[in-house]
Amino acid sequence: MIELASRSELLQQTLDWQQQVVALIPTMGNLHNGHLSLIKIARRHADTVVVSVFVNPTQFGANEDFSNYPRSLESDRKQLLNAGCDVLFAPSPEVLYPFGSDDFTQVLPPIALANTLCGLARPGHFNGVLSVVARLFNLIQPQVAVFGEKDFQQLLIIKRMVTDLGMSQQIISAPTIREPSGLAMSSRNQHLDTTAKQQAMGLQQTLQHTARQLDQGRRDIKLLEDQAFQQLQHAGFQTEYFSIRLADDLSEVSNHNKLGQLRILAAVKLGRTRLIDNIAWPVSGQQCGKSATID
Ligand code: PAF
Repeated sequence: MIELASRSELLQQTLDWQQQVVALIPTMGNLHNGHLSLIKIARRHADTVVVSVFVNPTQFGANEDFSNYPRSLESDRKQLLNAGCDVLFAPSPEVLYPFGSDDFTQVLPPIALANTLCGLARPGHFNGVLSVVARLFNLIQPQVAVFGEKDFQQLLIIKRMVTDLGMSQQIISAPTIREPSGLAMSSRNQHLDTTAKQQAMGLQQTLQHTARQLDQGRRDIKLLEDQAFQQLQHAGFQTEYFSIRLADDLSEVSNHNKLGQLRILAAVKLGRTRLIDNIAWPVSGQQCGKSATID
C-alpha cells in the first residue's frame, strides 16, 4: 500500500494512473467493517482503490465533536493494508485548506436537500462535506467514488453536486453494514458502553417497526412518524427527527395513496453520542436519488 499526504505526491501518482480506473473512498478514519466493505465494492469497479482519511474541520459545527472525533491512523493503516487498499491518502488540513479552514472556497448544496433532517440540526454541515469532497475529487481525480447509505442525505447531496457541477465521477452507493444487533456501524459507536449499545438497538427496531406498519397498509405518515418519535423517546433516546420521506429527493410524502420508493430516516442522541440510521421502503427495488442524465 502506498501512502500519500501532499499535493505534489498526488500529482505524480495521478500521472502514473492515467491508464487505470481509480476509485476513491473518502473517510474520516477510525475505520470499521462498514468502511472495509466499501473497499470490496470499490474493487469491483476499479483497478486502484484509494482511501482518504481526513477529519474535515469544516463539516463540524462550533459545538460539535471535532476535537473528540476518534482518530486512529495507526490502526486505520493496518486495517487498510489487510483489506487490500492500494493507496492511503491522509493529508494535513493545510493540504486541503491551503488558506485555512475559517474562510475558504465552498461548494453549497441546494437548500431543499440540505436544510432538512440532519441539515437542520447541523447548519453548514453539508457545505463542509461538499467542499471537502470536491477538493478530494479534484486532487485525486477518481472515476468512481463510493459512499455508504448510512449517511443517506449526504449521499443524495453528493450525487446532486456531481450532476449539477458536471463532475465526471460515478457515485456508487453501498449498503449499511450492521452489528449482529442491527446497530449501524459507525465510528461514533465506540463512545457507547455495553448498556448504551444495547439501548442503541432500539433505533433500528423502530425503523423496522415503521416499515412493517407501511407493509401492512398504514398510510397515515404523520401519525406513524409521531408514534415512532414517541417510541424512541420512551426507549431513552433524545430524538432529533424521525421522518418518512421520498427516497429520490427527501421531500415530504404528499400523495399518501401512491407512495413509491420511500426512505425512513432518524437521528437520535444517546447521552452525548449522536446516531443516525435509515432504511428503504419497500425493501425491494430500492434506489438512491435521482440520476439525471444531461446531454
Ligand atoms: O461520511 C464521512 O465520513 C464524511 O462526511 C466524508 C464524506 C468523508 C467527508 O468528510
